[in-house]
Amino acid sequence: MENKTVAITFDDGPDYRYTPAILDILKENGVKATFFVVGTQVKREPQVLERIVKEGHAIGNHTFDHKDLTKLSKAQILKQMKDTDALIKQTVGFTPTMFRAPYGAVSSAVKQVMAEQKRQLVGWTVDTRDWAGTSPADMIAHISKETKPGGIILMHSFGSKHIAGTVEALPEIIAALKQKGYSFVTADKLV
Ligand code: NI
Repeated sequence: MENKTVAITFDDGPDYRYTPAILDILKENGVKATFFVVGTQVKREPQVLERIVKEGHAIGNHTFDHKDLTKLSKAQILKQMKDTDALIKQTVGFTPTMFRAPYGAVSSAVKQVMAEQKRQLVGWTVDTRDWAGTSPADMIAHISKETKPGGIILMHSFGSKHIAGTVEALPEIIAALKQKGYSFVTADKLV
């Protein structure tokens, strides 16, 4: 049988409201996901980051305060990474190898920093646009149509009032992907 894998990723958290609700759903469904966290939120909700790691999910660095890295110098890009690394390390005891650029915006300076710091730059193949208020039904339809084996699905666990829709859609998204024969892996397995 074909090995169909997919990674679900959640950006911009952790927060105290949506991220725990997402973690509850992932646990109920036996799904491991990947969370790309921002430094400002790790600072606010370190115990939620601890929970993410404790429950077996993968984490990645998503900058300190969600800057468009293409507008920053190499030194500034490195600072965005290192400040967040320090907070993550202080909270869970290790530095993640994955990194995701805000807005997926990547310059040659960004690529250089990633190579020098030996990071896996992780993008996505399916954008749910959950942050923009896409309805759960539309998200599920889009994911069902666009997901291919080895796909990486972009969702959010914080950063917009519409993340309640992400939480609402998640059980059905997982069910739809399982129905299609997908198994869930963390994003490091697919990049
Ligand atoms: Ni983001």
